[in-house]
Amino acid sequence: MQHRSERRRFIRSAAAGSAALAWLGGRKAPLAFSAEADKPALLGGTPAHKGGWTGWPQWRESWEPQVLNVLRSRRWYRLSAPHVSDFEKGYAQLLGAKSCLATASGTTALTVSLHVMDVGAGDEVIVSPYTFIASYNAILSAMALPVFADTDPATLTMDPASIESRITDRTRAIMPVHIFGLPCDMDPISAAARRHKLAVIEDACQAWLADYKGRKCGTLGDLGCFSFQESKHIPSGEGGAITSMSEELIDKCNSFHNCGRACGTNQGRGSFTRGNNYRMTQVQAMILAQQFDKLVKETAVRQANADHLTANLGKIPGIAPVRLPENARAVWHLYPFRYDATQFSGMSLGQFAHAVGAEGVPCGGVYHEQYYDGLLDEAIASRGYKRLWSAERLKAYRDSFKELKGNKQVCETTVAMGQNMLLGERSDMDHIIDAIRKVHAHSAELVKAM
Ligand SMILES: Cc1ncc(COP(=O)(O)O)c(C=O)c1O
Repeated sequence: MQHRSERRRFIRSAAAGSAALAWLGGRKAPLAFSAEADKPALLGGTPAHKGGWTGWPQWRESWEPQVLNVLRSRRWYRLSAPHVSDFEKGYAQLLGAKSCLATASGTTALTVSLHVMDVGAGDEVIVSPYTFIASYNAILSAMALPVFADTDPATLTMDPASIESRITDRTRAIMPVHIFGLPCDMDPISAAARRHKLAVIEDACQAWLADYKGRKCGTLGDLGCFSFQESKHIPSGEGGAITSMSEELIDKCNSFHNCGRACGTNQGRGSFTRGNNYRMTQVQAMILAQQFDKLVKETAVRQANADHLTANLGKIPGIAPVRLPENARAVWHLYPFRYDATQFSGMSLGQFAHAVGAEGVPCGGVYHEQYYDGLLDEAIASRGYKRLWSAERLKAYRDSFKELKGNKQVCETTVAMGQNMLLGERSDMDHIIDAIRKVHAHSAELVKAM
């Protein structure tokens, strides 16, 4: 048995090793300090996983000729070559959408969609608080108020039962977020929207090919928005898309994203609208169009590996995999689970992530309570917002954050692993399970040592 101070020194050196592990990164696991396989690495055991993880994003030499052709053609702008519209046709087909519009990013896809669904200054949009801040910011860019739904701790998505109580005479739209590629329970969300004549804009920026009752996320509301930023399953550095079952709505999106120029069903004299430039380039489109098959194949691998993790991690006390809505298939941009410290001898989430990370399995907490980060305070203190809402409404809005159900708990107890890890072999998934089992079995010793 190591003396306590020696053990502290050891943990410091092990921690220095694992500090090099960016938790989503495909780096090497820390050095093995002992051959004892069941002992946690932080206590001198052998790390559960030693092989590192697939790096992300990926590049294929086979994509280069087509990309080079676009560069050499000097036709890079959306309207000077067919690659962007070819990509749009392909992406719509992949999703079973009627139509698709490529955009410069996921954020601009949301911005365009909000405009086209007539969300403007002084309106309110009901959105999940458990999301990347771009969902909040797109609503704020429209000079509208993001009104937060409760978060269901079992699914990590918007609790549909909380929607009705958030509706006011200013509510124009609901923005469900399929966070981590986990489909929201869309039936009750769409029913609430129909009852109150609200638009539904899906933030599917992390949900390429996710499925809800036989239909793809991004085709379930009026408009669906996707991101192709570098970390995404189908990346092009930056990029986005809007999908819909309505060609007319996509034509309106096209007009707004192309400086308000007339488009498709929206033609003729006087058909210019307000607009901006949110266009995708030909190079982005060519990089994306070559990844369709890869996306489909890798989605199946992630799903099979996530199923294996879910079946096994759920058996470890204190680890709760997410619950999906009936007949839904997630695509796992991250693989999240809820962590109960009381089942791990009171080990904090940070300590848990550190101990599991030392096993060669990077993981960590994800979103925090971002409504306290200042962006909403800055918005509601602005001249525009003060003109658009009464002081009482803005105060009640700010106060309502503390009444939100589920979100604080979800922020404080959700741990996740990166999608790249789900591209490993089945044996790699077993290493993940072993790592967490080991940390659970030795939690009391680990807590004493940390
Ligand atoms: C849920 C969600 N919404 C919106 C966005 C914005 O997408 P982009 O970064 O392409 O602007 C992202 C990107 O990470 C996201 O994850």
